[in-house]
Amino acid sequence: MTKQNPRSSRPWWRDAVTYQIYIRSFADSNGDGKGDVEGIRSRLPYLKKLGIDAIWITPWYPSPQKDHGYDVSDYMNIEPDYGTLKDAELLIKEAHAMGIRMIVDIVPNHSSDQHEWFQAALKAAPGSKERDRYIFRDGKGASGELPPNNWQAVFGGPAWHRITEADGKPGQWYLHLFAVEQPDFNWENPEVNDYFERTLKFWLDRGVDGFRIDVAHGMVKAEGLPDVLDRDSASPEMLAAQRMPFWDQDGVHEIYRRWRKIFDSYEGDRMAVAEAWVSPASRTALYLRKDELANSFNFDFLTSKWGIEDLKKNIDLSLKAIQDVGAPASWVFNNHDVVRSVDRFALGLQPGTGETTLDRHGDVTKLDLELGKRRARAGALLMLALPGGAYIYQGEELALPEVRDIPEDRLEDPRWNMSNKIDKGRDGCRVPLPWKSSSDSAFGFSGNAKVSPDQAWLPQPNWWGNYSVESQEKDPASTLNMYRLALEIRHKENGLGDGEMEWFDFAPHVLAFRRAGGFICLVNFGGEVKLPEGELLVSSSPIRDFMLPSDTAVWMRTK
Ligand code: NOJ
Repeated sequence: MTKQNPRSSRPWWRDAVTYQIYIRSFADSNGDGKGDVEGIRSRLPYLKKLGIDAIWITPWYPSPQKDHGYDVSDYMNIEPDYGTLKDAELLIKEAHAMGIRMIVDIVPNHSSDQHEWFQAALKAAPGSKERDRYIFRDGKGASGELPPNNWQAVFGGPAWHRITEADGKPGQWYLHLFAVEQPDFNWENPEVNDYFERTLKFWLDRGVDGFRIDVAHGMVKAEGLPDVLDRDSASPEMLAAQRMPFWDQDGVHEIYRRWRKIFDSYEGDRMAVAEAWVSPASRTALYLRKDELANSFNFDFLTSKWGIEDLKKNIDLSLKAIQDVGAPASWVFNNHDVVRSVDRFALGLQPGTGETTLDRHGDVTKLDLELGKRRARAGALLMLALPGGAYIYQGEELALPEVRDIPEDRLEDPRWNMSNKIDKGRDGCRVPLPWKSSSDSAFGFSGNAKVSPDQAWLPQPNWWGNYSVESQEKDPASTLNMYRLALEIRHKENGLGDGEMEWFDFAPHVLAFRRAGGFICLVNFGGEVKLPEGELLVSSSPIRDFMLPSDTAVWMRTK
């Protein structure tokens, strides 16, 4: 294996470990039960100590919160419930002073229906320039009573909504691939492009280091908005494993080429990471060509089953695909849209059984949370040892499980209502963080001691304190301390981060690979095996007598 250049000689985003902050659930400074900008600022020392390189903050813009910020009504300001633009500027400054980079979320596929452009479009006539910023069409049928095509919304139900025109009569339909309150922009209109370029510059001028692009594979729709051919797949998932007329159209790449020029016109390796749910890996790599984006979440890795074959196959395919375009990998196991890895791995899903790792309900009788935690910890060490960067989601460092029993009348995810109360949605991975073990101040989430766990915007379960930062800080074997140690080692080991890896044969049920400088990572998916000779750096479960137990990962330095 060739010796690697030092990390300082390459752009930061080739190696970075980025921590995703779901702002509403991270830390609430003013006691209203919702997280805010000041809450994040107050926890910067925690993030620094954790050892991450960057933070990504989910949308913090003014929003009616129909999809918790992913329905933006003003792209160049801060949601009053979360703070002010001044607070945001201070946070960016302080994070930078501590050596932490800042990524903000940008939502270019759709706005809120309360955005001034959409409100103007509703008031304007069909065919007007106001309507042309969104995707309005006449309906089909004798009096336009049928939607313009058969597309379905990701959250359930038809992707079209019929409006009432100014004269009080039923009128045109508009496209919303997500909630009704999230109308899709028309990216064929240059005004939309100009608006987003101004938005990017607005935040770049305030010092942000990068953007996470929401639904990065969705902005361009196939010409003529043709019907989805296979009616069975008309209710789409985000993952574009199949070709769909609204996902992964070649035209999106032209947008990113323009955006890359903007990033490059600023100093300091500004970047963007795509939320492009596309497959196979060769399609993801297209977003990472030299003149496009820096990172793209590796969703093939996230959706891998806990098993040697699936993981190894996805790692190999991903590395091969990005190698072709010279990009770094961006591994991810968790985010605010998917079932937490502890629960996914707890379901005891076996490769090849056809069970989906993202199943929200699953067969909970099979749920073994101790096993899930053990695997999630091993998975984390695997992920952090692979070449490239990684994204971790708040609470992952505490091995938080999914909260499965949020009372139905407290569910907030639009999926719940739009699926006619079939899909409970994503709230289970969004419950506000437990900072303290005692329940006052909503387990330390709130700045007000009187706020109870039930008053947090999503109620916290009574067992939440068992996972608190406070309790894990005291326990040397906690998941928090494992992440801290792993990230500390990752910074020191020149062989980690971007660069090469090499598989080697160790035992048939052990995933084993080498990085430069004598570093090895082993992940055991089967029975106990003896470790090779060398220095043990960190392990995901306790090691006795130099034996590697099942569902455990170790980092070692060998000669
Ligand atoms: C992807 C985001 O991660 C998700 O939370 C949101 O609901 C959709 N995009 C729509 O913006």
